[in-house]
Amino acid sequence: MRIGIIGGGSLGLLFAYYLNKTASVTVYTRTLEQAEVINREGICLKKKENIWNTFVSAVPFDSWQGLEDITIVTVKQYQLTHVLDKISNQPKSCGRLLFLQNGMGHIKSLKNMTNQEIYIGSVEHGAYRDSANVVHHNGEGVTRCAVLNGDPSFLEQFVSVSPSSFPFIIEPDYYEMLIKKLIVNAVINPLTAVLRVQNGELIDNPHYYKILNDIFSEITAILQLKNRDQIFSHVMNVCEKTAQNRSSMLKDIEHHRETEVDAILGYLLEEADSKGIQAPLIQTFFHLIKGLTLNEGVK
Ligand code: PAF
Repeated sequence: MRIGIIGGGSLGLLFAYYLNKTASVTVYTRTLEQAEVINREGICLKKKENIWNTFVSAVPFDSWQGLEDITIVTVKQYQLTHVLDKISNQPKSCGRLLFLQNGMGHIKSLKNMTNQEIYIGSVEHGAYRDSANVVHHNGEGVTRCAVLNGDPSFLEQFVSVSPSSFPFIIEPDYYEMLIKKLIVNAVINPLTAVLRVQNGELIDNPHYYKILNDIFSEITAILQLKNRDQIFSHVMNVCEKTAQNRSSMLKDIEHHRETEVDAILGYLLEEADSKGIQAPLIQTFFHLIKGLTLNEGVK
């Protein structure tokens, strides 16, 4: 199977490293410089004390045409516009696409792309990028995936050829899958980013835990969650399992990058607005994150 991966960030490198074990991978990077480093030195994966290397081909994203059996889009939600524009401007269909973004912001645009086969994924691995071609796999997880608009049998084939060391799980409903991840990100990420703490502190500090509960209650009302207790235990479980992690939003703020707050809290605020529901805490955290981004500047 031939796989294209758009994005040379932590997820792009992680997926390229593992999928290259059983498929032929091409990575599409934002810069020519990164493509040159990957072609010269390969992708290096670090996990605990181990270091492994694999060679894939890498080219700048401008030359992507969607010629592979599937293209996995790993860029963050806020970098997606450029990618979606390029997909829409291709003279013919670009085959199958798997999107791995957090949040729900991209779903509306993807639903309009009716001439592509589109799959959605939700990543539960922890990873961070050290340099142009080095990625740390610091949280072993799974990738959940579901069909948005496409052939389910292709997804089954893709999952069956993926290496056992990097599992994929097919979910029946993309909305349920994404909303569950969105709730985790909406509860953990803005709080840890504003308080500048590791995920575990949200449980250990009773004052932070109180705010976490209050944010979760607002989410419950907005999304009219029926299985509230089950979802709350899932959030707690993720918080405990990733207790030592600094959330992606905290890392984005610390590294002066754009955050995914529009796709996460922004989505919830739009939902609240459309249902005439007040969400004062979510609104406050939305503006705190926006304010921090302004204050710290974005590279
Ligand atoms: O965005 C993140 O950081 C992660 O999705 C999670 C699960 C909150 C762990 O830090």
